[in-house]
Amino acid sequence: MQVLITEEQIRDRVKVLGAQIEADYQGKPLTIVAVLTGSLIVLADLIRQIGLPLRVALLQASSYTGATTTAGALILNESFAPDVAGRDVLLLDDILDTGRTLATLVDRMRDRGARSVRTAVLLRKLGRQEVHLEPDYCGFTIPDAFVVGYGLDYDDDYRHLPYIGVLE
Ligand code: IMP
Ligand code: MG
Repeated sequence: MQVLITEEQIRDRVKVLGAQIEADYQGKPLTIVAVLTGSLIVLADLIRQIGLPLRVALLQASSYTGATTTAGALILNESFAPDVAGRDVLLLDDILDTGRTLATLVDRMRDRGARSVRTAVLLRKLGRQEVHLEPDYCGFTIPDAFVVGYGLDYDDDYRHLPYIGVLE
């Protein structure tokens, strides 16, 4: 495993993102909707850096079936999804790859009556995007490699690593 982003780099960057989010929403209540399972760890760290009235909600989206880069159809599970009607929503995912997951979820939140929808990602992979979507908050831009750790998995392994590494 080759370390791409260290634990310290992640911690520093998440702090900055939290401060940006806090400043942008100016004391208004925020609902963070995190995409399971990959965003679990960044969610836990990020929300503790945001001094706003905050709700957390989860939904599950999966498009990968274990193989590294074959994107299939998006499977959505909204059983833990919140009532977002009239609320300012920040969608949070671990990584922006093709952009399909977040683009689909942005539409979904709007359909469900969110007042505003923004997006945050820990990582954004260069040269992979198929859908136009500019994330409002982005931790790191990374090269086109398959990464694991800090929530990101390969076939459900490696999520617990405290750093982001490139799988060889
Ligand atoms: P998108 O819909 O193509 O943007 O895919 C985003 C989802 O693909 C993320 O939520 C991840 O679960 C998964 N994904 C994309 N690239 C990687 C990677 O390098 N490592 C682990 N998961 C990835
Ligand atoms: Mg994911």
